Amino acid sequence: MRVGLLTGGGDVPGLNAAIRAVVKRGEGDHGHSIIGFRNGWKGVVDGDVMPLTRQHIRNVLATGGTLLGTARYHPHADDGGMDAVLATLEAERIEALICIGGDGTLKAASRIAEAGVRIVGIPKTIDNDVWGTDRSIGFDTAVTIATEAIDRIHTTAESHNRVMVVEVMGRSAGWIAVTSGIAGGAELVLAPEAPFDITRVEKFLKHRHRAHASFSIVVVAEGAVPAEGTAMHYETQVGQFGEIVAGAIGERLKGEIERRTGFDTRVTVLGHTQRGGTPTAADRILASRFGVAAIDAINAGRSDVMTAIRGERIELVELQEVAGKVQHVPDDLLMVAGALA
Ligand code: F6P
Repeated sequence: MRVGLLTGGGDVPGLNAAIRAVVKRGEGDHGHSIIGFRNGWKGVVDGDVMPLTRQHIRNVLATGGTLLGTARYHPHADDGGMDAVLATLEAERIEALICIGGDGTLKAASRIAEAGVRIVGIPKTIDNDVWGTDRSIGFDTAVTIATEAIDRIHTTAESHNRVMVVEVMGRSAGWIAVTSGIAGGAELVLAPEAPFDITRVEKFLKHRHRAHASFSIVVVAEGAVPAEGTAMHYETQVGQFGEIVAGAIGERLKGEIERRTGFDTRVTVLGHTQRGGTPTAADRILASRFGVAAIDAINAGRSDVMTAIRGERIELVELQEVAGKVQHVPDDLLMVAGALA
């Protein structure tokens, strides 16, 4: 069978591990030809193909980025995009297509499946906001990087008696903020799931600096928002692909904290460091499991499904169910971050 493969949306560490698993399982054990498309859906539209064999996946398990390249491009949002995708798939005689991506890429995949193409999705995003799976590829690495950064910021915060605001990614979900905040021992974690009140932040920091310590770490998710009806409230501006202006909330928060408390305050925006470099063991394992499961799903005649992990089990969920939903941080995890302030 000729199986197409693409990686779409923002890159994450672990994509190459997933590509490797698809090629090994597909080509080696089942005799499929794996046809890679460069730069996500854009490569499908342009007919930009790259046959993938064992030779292409040598030594890629531990590497970051994606050897296929990626792009933020949604064919269903582009005039003629869907027709171009279907034309390329027919010209390349693709019988099944594996799409590794976040919600945007998977939404496009679901649309293509409706047109009769056999599709299997694999979830990847550092934001961990894909609905239907406990984890997406890339999240564990991002949390590990953010935690290490918080550890490092801790020592300089203490030496200088400063408030350090650390802004992490995550779009409208607070997974990276909450988990790295817990792991890094942040004093305060501000996540989109629990809009904050700046006057409570002010009171908390003043009390802490009077009673316990002369420094604080505040981890803020890029999508965190001040609660309606409280000071500093504003609407977060979200771009075409759900992106949020990096540094916006971090800088605002730094300014407000400094103005209200008089404490020396700095902001660090971790940005794309969270998406770079070698994947953790957990991400390599998850990506490998998803890659194998995707080929097995195709062999079992499944379509319009996404690989998912629930607890320790790999499962398949309907792509139609996933599209358009956001997996948010549950209350019990938010509670832990708050309880350890
Ligand atoms: O979705 C992953 C993500 O890293 C978000 O956390 C962030 O808002 C966005 O992508 C950044 O997008 P870009 O790499 O296009 O700047």
